[in-house]
Amino acid sequence: MSELRYDGRVAIVTGAGHGLGRRHALELAARGAKVVVNDLGGDRSGVGASAGPAQEVVDEITKAGGEAVADPGNVADPEGAAGIVRTALDAFGKIDIVVNNAGILRDKSFKNMTVEEFDAVIAVHLRGSFLVTSAAWPHLREQGYGRVVNTSSPAGLFGNFGQANYATAKMGLVGFTKTLAHEGAKYGIRANAIAPVAWTRMTEDLLPADFAAALGVEQVTPLVAFLAHESVAESGQVYTVGGGRIAKIFVAEGPGWGTKETLSVESVRDHWDAINAAEPLAVFNNVGEQMGPLIQQLTS
Ligand code: NAI
Repeated sequence: MSELRYDGRVAIVTGAGHGLGRRHALELAARGAKVVVNDLGGDRSGVGASAGPAQEVVDEITKAGGEAVADPGNVADPEGAAGIVRTALDAFGKIDIVVNNAGILRDKSFKNMTVEEFDAVIAVHLRGSFLVTSAAWPHLREQGYGRVVNTSSPAGLFGNFGQANYATAKMGLVGFTKTLAHEGAKYGIRANAIAPVAWTRMTEDLLPADFAAALGVEQVTPLVAFLAHESVAESGQVYTVGGGRIAKIFVAEGPGWGTKETLSVESVRDHWDAINAAEPLAVFNNVGEQMGPLIQQLTS
């Protein structure tokens, strides 16, 4: 089988100074992509800033014979996000791939979560992905080609104690990804998301230590790189990945229950089992498809 290459492609990887992003940047560069290594260089909770981590990854790529440039901008700041895209254009003349990976944690039970803790996490994950993609979008559209990979999380898809801020941002990225897929389709832009699990500074005190070796970041990057490749046909999809396992995540709807009568509280109660039925599940590609069963009921 032929090797998947990224020669001639320019990739932005946000939050690439550590953990998963660093691994994505190294892999894409090793396979021929020119990479903008963005990282603000703060701590796990997003406090502080340093140009060091991004530059160190650039040095590593350069030493290995690859091409990369560092950008210490803040993805949550419109100027920072625009600057990351400008760095790509100035250094390499174009953008093909955007990997939105930067992230922070401010875990707290919902009872104790402050608006600052909520806003800070939404700002980096959700607003940051919006801002960087938004700055890159006109260039992707104009060239009729682009790959966007967003970083969601099982915590967002399924909920997790102490992560109301983080889960909100991560599920928000699913809607963001699906909408980008629709709006990018006619311009050759595909957008997908991953929901990873990996042993990094973000998770080292959250994941069982026994699995540290098995949950290396190198077990996530191949999916990200594949989704960033020109050969990927899927768009608007979400995949969970980690420890050597990958699976597609579906947003699905049950068969439901419908009536031509006006609903009452009692009719909801009386059909509660049917409303909650999980089989057969339907997966829709857009809101039009999702309206299908309702329209069928209204017109039958
Ligand atoms: P990490 O803490 O090693 O890496 C995150 C990087 O983002 C850091 O280098 C940090 O400096 C950078 N960053 C933070 N705020 C930034 C900002 N405003 N602008 C630019 N860079 C910024 O953590 P990890 O685990 O590598 O996380 C990467 C992504 O994967 C995050 O979005 C995280 O939420 C997500 N994720 C990770 C999981 C895991 O098991 N490690 C599970 C689910 C999602």
